[in-house]
Amino acid sequence: MHKISKLAVLTSGGDAPGMNPCIRAVVRTGIYNGLKIVGIRKGYQGLIENDMYDMTPRSVSNILNLGGTILKTARCLPFRTDEGMETAYKHLKEQKIDALVVIGGDGTFTGALRFSKRYPDIAVMGVPGTIDNDLYGSTYTLGFDTATNTVIEAIDKIRDTADAHDRLFFIEVMGRDSGAIALRAGISCGAEAILLPEKTTAIDDLIENLKAGQHNKKSSSIVIVAEGDKHGGAYDIARVVQKEVKFYDVKVTILGHLQRGGSPSAFDRILGSRLGYAAVNALIAGETQKMVGLEANHIKITSLEEALNQHEFKLEEDLMQMAEILSI
Ligand code: F6P
Repeated sequence: MHKISKLAVLTSGGDAPGMNPCIRAVVRTGIYNGLKIVGIRKGYQGLIENDMYDMTPRSVSNILNLGGTILKTARCLPFRTDEGMETAYKHLKEQKIDALVVIGGDGTFTGALRFSKRYPDIAVMGVPGTIDNDLYGSTYTLGFDTATNTVIEAIDKIRDTADAHDRLFFIEVMGRDSGAIALRAGISCGAEAILLPEKTTAIDDLIENLKAGQHNKKSSSIVIVAEGDKHGGAYDIARVVQKEVKFYDVKVTILGHLQRGGSPSAFDRILGSRLGYAAVNALIAGETQKMVGLEANHIKITSLEEALNQHEFKLEEDLMQMAEILSI
């Protein structure tokens, strides 16, 4: 069993709203339990570059409302190498750090698991932080709710202008290989069609659907395209569709990185607080190589191995079917 006295925390991969509330919870829960806390800047890069600092309860004052991450983040290729891991380990040992909380997505967890198998004397706990909502073991990941709300706000505005001009908009949203944001945003904004990586929609069917919408006197149409959709992106699909759908002027909007910014929603602040608190308590209880998540409103602890290997993407058929019916 790992008995820990000094804990480090880092954020890695794409930032996600809710990371700051989580960092705050890790720092304060750790200090409450008598641990020393170290913040690592820029994820695994900071481990390799020895960019760390001691944190106190005041280091995390007034950050609940902030987007991004006060620890900064990076996608660090050198940490994938043996030399990179060795350097990181050396720096952790020099600082007498015996536990690590890593907040991030699947890339972050892959690195954490490899590192922990190689150096099992450092206990590791993952917190799912990614707008993509694509990790097994937690119904929601940090940032997904805020990002979805940001997308909805943007699409509502696009709907206003689409309707005023009788236009068809293709709106591309983030999510890498996951259609989670696209599907929720599609339902919330009444999109006429939602294209997801988990399901290949034939372009001919899409065109028929849009023609039916026009026949049913729809003045505008919105098609949400998840960035991982197999047709190659919103511009490519729009080009093909415009040739067949002459009654609409076709426009494309790629929402891009604005989806990752902004103040975390209440949901993400609470989720970040709960997961950060749970991560420290799990480490104190002797757990390692695990991820803390939330399922059915209860904290669930899953092995990192399972969180990574079980996350094949499932199409939420029921939601997809409902979205189609509600958009007639
Ligand atoms: O994983 C979060 C995410 O925003 C994905 O949705 C997207 O594909 C990717 O990161 C973009 O990464 P970057 O900011 O490195 O371009």
